[in-house]
Amino acid sequence: MLDRIVQGAVPRKHHLAFRDAEGRLLYEEAYTRAGFDGPYTLAYHRGRPHAVHAVEPRHGFPLPEAGPARRLEKRHYRTQDLAPRGGPLVDARVPLLFNADVTIGLATPTAADPVYLANGDADDLYFVQEGGGLLRSPLGDLRFGKDDYVYVPKGLLHRFLPDPGPQRWLVLECAGGVHLPSQWRNETGQLRMDAPYSHRDFRRVEWKGPQDEGLRDLVVKRAGAFHGFRYDAPPLDVVGWDGALYPFAFPILNFQPRAGLVHLPPTWHGTFATRGALVCSLVPRLLDFHPEAVPCPYPHASVDVDEVLFYVRGEFTSRRGVGAGSISHHPAGTMHGPHPGAYEASIGARSTNELAVMLDCYQPLAATPFALGIEDPGYQESFIG
Ligand SMILES: [Fe+2]
Repeated sequence: MLDRIVQGAVPRKHHLAFRDAEGRLLYEEAYTRAGFDGPYTLAYHRGRPHAVHAVEPRHGFPLPEAGPARRLEKRHYRTQDLAPRGGPLVDARVPLLFNADVTIGLATPTAADPVYLANGDADDLYFVQEGGGLLRSPLGDLRFGKDDYVYVPKGLLHRFLPDPGPQRWLVLECAGGVHLPSQWRNETGQLRMDAPYSHRDFRRVEWKGPQDEGLRDLVVKRAGAFHGFRYDAPPLDVVGWDGALYPFAFPILNFQPRAGLVHLPPTWHGTFATRGALVCSLVPRLLDFHPEAVPCPYPHASVDVDEVLFYVRGEFTSRRGVGAGSISHHPAGTMHGPHPGAYEASIGARSTNELAVMLDCYQPLAATPFALGIEDPGYQESFIG
């Protein structure tokens, strides 16, 4: 949820009879969250949006399941070694780490979705490490590319059309919904002037009129299962909408990082919040300006959160053995910190070019068999001198 906007034609007041130029009555869809207490969007359809047949689902991606119980250790998973799954995104998402709040996965789609998907379990937040494409929904299209976060609200019908070429997307399925951290908003909901981004830094979906792609099938994910539905008429039949629930993109490099006299904790990099997790953007930035500052993060146990870092590119000064595409997982209850020599070497550093997405997760994360297949077995010991 970003801000309220209007696109296309809408009636002068909600819940009034609204007709097109030919005098046909349009159907108002109330797309709401938190029952009727949360953010909402009202969309005006040519057809009845709920007129769907129940059919067998023909698509769906693997659901997370925990691998065998293991020792509490620092972990490193190399998604760069993950065998590309390919196919459309609706089949191509691979879960790696998960708890009841968030599922962290990777997707390497190679084809456009042949059906529409509505994720009834979660908001989806993607980070595009490589590639780009188009997100299509009844509310409009959204172009996105490398280094973009892409937000798709829970339950919204949509499909992805990846551009030709390699694609590598981090996928965060957030059961509690995604929102901007409340500390970045003022009492009107506007982003504060001292927030690390402004309203202009986001790209919103753009409505371009009703269209018929010839697709009628919808897959709904709900309660960890996929369910099929079929329309008789094109579902992209919206003539206008008004609301605060819609897909948007946020280029990570629009995030305005901070530097302090001494090291600032990750909360200063908070970009998106969800139930049980904070998503942080670590972008190229100046480092601490005290002449004796130690810019490298201090060793700590982070006793309340599992820390996950997805390395996008750049020099990761506190780590060795990780590369672009690596995911480190430092579970709560185990000490972690810089690799040998990194703490000392950081003194006097004035800038970093690292680019990474970090998640602080409040519930323990389990690893899936997909993750176990790409694990770096020497990571725990790599912290010994
Ligand atoms: Fe940490």
